[in-house]
Amino acid sequence: MSDIHSERILILDFGSQYTQLIARRVREAKVYCEIFPYNAGLAKVKAFHPKGLILSGGPSSVYDPGAPLIDKAHLDLGVPVLGICYGMQLLTHVLGGAVAKSQKREFGRAELNIHKGEKLFAGIGEGACKTIVWMSHGDRIEKMPAGFSAIAHTDNSPTAAMMDAQGKFFGVQFHPEVAHTPQGVQILRNFVYTICKCEPTWTMASFVDYSVGEIRKAVGDKQAVCGLSGGVDSSVAAVLVHKAIGKQLTCIFVNNGVLRKDEAEKVQLSFKDMGLNLKYVDASAEFLAKFKGVEDPEKKRKIIGNTFIEVFEREALAVGGAEFLVQGTLYPDVIESVSFKGPSAIIKSHHNVGGLPEKMKLKLVEPLRELFKDEVRAIGREMKMPDDIIDRQPFPGPGLAIRILGEVTEPRLRVLREADAIVIEEIKKAGLYKEIWQSFAVLLPIKTVGVMGDERTYENVIAIRAVTSQDGMTADWAKVPYELLGTMSNRIINEVKGVNRVVFDISSKPPSTIEWE
Ligand code: XMP
Repeated sequence: MSDIHSERILILDFGSQYTQLIARRVREAKVYCEIFPYNAGLAKVKAFHPKGLILSGGPSSVYDPGAPLIDKAHLDLGVPVLGICYGMQLLTHVLGGAVAKSQKREFGRAELNIHKGEKLFAGIGEGACKTIVWMSHGDRIEKMPAGFSAIAHTDNSPTAAMMDAQGKFFGVQFHPEVAHTPQGVQILRNFVYTICKCEPTWTMASFVDYSVGEIRKAVGDKQAVCGLSGGVDSSVAAVLVHKAIGKQLTCIFVNNGVLRKDEAEKVQLSFKDMGLNLKYVDASAEFLAKFKGVEDPEKKRKIIGNTFIEVFEREALAVGGAEFLVQGTLYPDVIESVSFKGPSAIIKSHHNVGGLPEKMKLKLVEPLRELFKDEVRAIGREMKMPDDIIDRQPFPGPGLAIRILGEVTEPRLRVLREADAIVIEEIKKAGLYKEIWQSFAVLLPIKTVGVMGDERTYENVIAIRAVTSQDGMTADWAKVPYELLGTMSNRIINEVKGVNRVVFDISSKPPSTIEWE
């Protein structure tokens, strides 16, 4: 086991929407951690060799039929345990205390009164002190397990935090992992550093070194291929693998005909600049021919997915002797979480290269499998990759094909590309590109009447879509300033032939989705 992983915390997931946030906070403290489902099994938990255990929150009540429970053996690993919200109630229940329904649900901001000198709260204030925390619970601790005492209270919860006499078990009723608990990071740091005695070894620089070594070991002197999209994940994966095996890696960048304005050229330039071995394949004609007469969104997605696999397979074979396929899979795709993952994967068939490795008998290299998106960006910065790749907004695999409603044709693509370029340019100029999750144009090929000069026009509509989001699972429409919307609308109508009306999409996800198809 390498150093960067030897200091490790395990988070058992009981279904909280915040479980991933706990993991991110621990990793930000430079301590490696993973999330296992609560029912992962004792053997798997032991084999992970954690130096501490965190029990996440969750929507259940410990007495609910079918509530997610663990048995006492999980708590007897000999390492400190922190129960958060439901995790604290579970700790109480399993160790022989009692949990009861609160008279009043405690939700939102609360003032936490910290008792004097508690090490979980070290560095928060002098002696007995107060801090703001975020609560979200319906149950409360009726009776603590034997040997426990309260270490903090709120007006509604006499036991808002507790610990046992040996200083091994801790419970907090609030959520230290959310931004609404301003001192939450300090509390989690106290747990991992002071209580679990973890060292901060998980740094991006050490990850790069470690990962380069692992990739070299795995690939040896063989050849690898990588499907490059120009997006953050595949780009960082490619650069990392290139750092490890240099010219043994061939990146294949397929132009599927539904890329944005100048995208093919920009991606080629950036990667050649970084010294990667890039194979550019212009398959746009092949893709576009297949869109003829196709209007159904799912059919369009399937066409893109299947044609990509065909083209990629052909090109990868032409590289000759490749035995490895590099993919930018991230940790959230790997976690076997019991939390709600959102419906998008089911509602739209996402384009990916699933099935390709088996079909081509390639072994997978997934250097980012342990990382969250913000860590991937940090790795990219660590490797001195250009900001315009690192900070890119996500762009879907099926590209502009799912941003043109109905049939995808060359003339429609031309209109959308121009309008989309204006949206991106203006959002960037206004300094909003990084804070907005995605901002783009959608072509609605319906005609509306307009007037330009003295002439009647009858042209298409462009919708501007801009959303804020943490992960794409849920999203809010971005409150783009009116003046900026006005500038984009004016420019699109004046500069893009074929458009005489611009609308702004004010729907959030759910119930809408980010993409229109
Ligand atoms: P929706 O439209 O489902 O999109 O709210 C959620 C996020 O996923 C992106 N998206 C895709 N990404 N292949 C991808 O690689 C796809 O087929 C695909 N469909 C949607 C979308 O841009 C948003 O970020």
